[in-house]
Order: sequence, then C-alpha cells, then structure tokens
Amino acid sequence: MKEFISLQNWIHERSDLKRAHRTIGFVPTMGALHAGHASLLKRAREENDFVVLSIYVNPTQFNNPNDLAKYPITIENDREVAREAGVDAILLPRYDEIYPDGYRYKVSENEFSKLLCGAHRPGHFDGVLTVVMKLLNLVQADRAYFGEKDFQQLQLIKGMVEAFFMTTAIVACPTVRETDGLAMSSRNLNLNPRARDQAPQLREVLVNTPTSLEAREKLSQLGFDVDYVEDLHGRRFAAATLGGVRLIDNVAR
Ligand code: PAF
Repeated sequence: MKEFISLQNWIHERSDLKRAHRTIGFVPTMGALHAGHASLLKRAREENDFVVLSIYVNPTQFNNPNDLAKYPITIENDREVAREAGVDAILLPRYDEIYPDGYRYKVSENEFSKLLCGAHRPGHFDGVLTVVMKLLNLVQADRAYFGEKDFQQLQLIKGMVEAFFMTTAIVACPTVRETDGLAMSSRNLNLNPRARDQAPQLREVLVNTPTSLEAREKLSQLGFDVDYVEDLHGRRFAAATLGGVRLIDNVAR
C-alpha cells in the first residue's frame, strides 16, 4: 500500500495506471474509518483494478470551528482498515496542495443544497462539492463510492458530476448500521456512553412515527436537540444533536 502526501507524486502514479489501462476505484473520506467506509472500500476492491482512498479533513465544509477541532483523527487505525480492505494507495494531501487558490474558487448548488443540512450549516455543501470536485479531478477514477447515510451529499455530488460532464461514475452504497440500528459515522466516536446508548433512538423514531412533526416532538422529548425532521422525495431525513454530537440519518418511507 503506497501513501501519497505529494499530489505531484500521485499524478505520476496515475499516469502509469492510465497507460496500463488499469481501472481506478476511489473512496474519498475524512478518516476515522469504520465499517461503513470498509464496505465502500470492499465494493471498490471488487469492481476495479486499483483502489485509492483519500483521507482529508476538509476545513471548508465545517461551518462550526468547534466541530472541526473535535473531528476524530485515527490514522493508525485507518491504515489498518485500508490494508485489510486491499487499498492500493492512500492520498493524504495538505491544505495548501488541495487549496492552492486559498478557496477563492468554489462549486455551489442553489436549490437542494439550501434544504435539510444546508439550511442549518451555511456553506457546508459549497465546501463538500468543491473538495469532491478537486479530488475527482485529481484521482480521475472510473468509479467513486459514497454512502447513502449522507444522502443529500450523495445526490448533490451526482448532480455536480452530471452538470460538469465529469466522467467518474458515482456509486451509491447502503448505510451500514451498528447492531442496535445506529448509522455508522466517524462522529459516533465522540458520543459519551450515555449518548451512545440513546443514539439509536434517532432511527427508531424516524422509522416508527407516522408524521415528521410527531417524530420531531418525540426526539425533543427524548433529549435530542433537533435541527430538522423532514419527509422529502420518498425519504425521511433528520439531523439532531445529542451530547454535543450532531447525528444525521435518513430512511426510506
Ligand atoms: O462524506 C465525507 O466524509 C466528506 O464529506 C467527503 C465526501 C470526503 C468530502 O470531504
């Protein structure tokens, strides 16, 4: 497994792969890898000759500096997960290589990105779309893999790829859950034991409550600080903070 901090070195490697007509599967992440990421890597391994993982905690998508400061970093464990999944290369770029422009240029979407998480996290999806476009351009993968846990992100990335005639196929992968139903997320590492016990109630309430309004009320009564519960396009979406950790989830209706 190779590691690339220098993007120039990665670009040399990429040229060799393209010359040899090897297909590339790409999994972009912010690290703190869990079984959800491992499932994306496994799918990429099955469908491509060469698997690239990026680990980059992208500051431009954090609207809350405290959330960025607390974002878990577990690089040794990440290497282990990557090795087990059969990753060929990890990209670990630095800010000045990803943002040589100092974030003067950005990608924005003006409709769906304003709803749900976008309504509560100003600038978040500009940061996500911008870094994903940069990474997709850098990796030039045949396929890139994203989890449905971040359903809004996934739809916006699909839309961006179409709008800008980008050639990487975006592959949607199902949410991976803990045995108690909690959607796997790097932020779960920050839950204190009490909040971790309570966190599966988010999905339970989304699944078992007739209306979004009632679901919102129930979650508030259970101690969640609710940003939103909304039914949209045949799914129910929610974001809520518990024990200082913001959780998101979505389920089919
Ligand atoms: O889903 C994530 O981990 C991030 O939003 C992504 C897609 C890696 C962009 O930083």
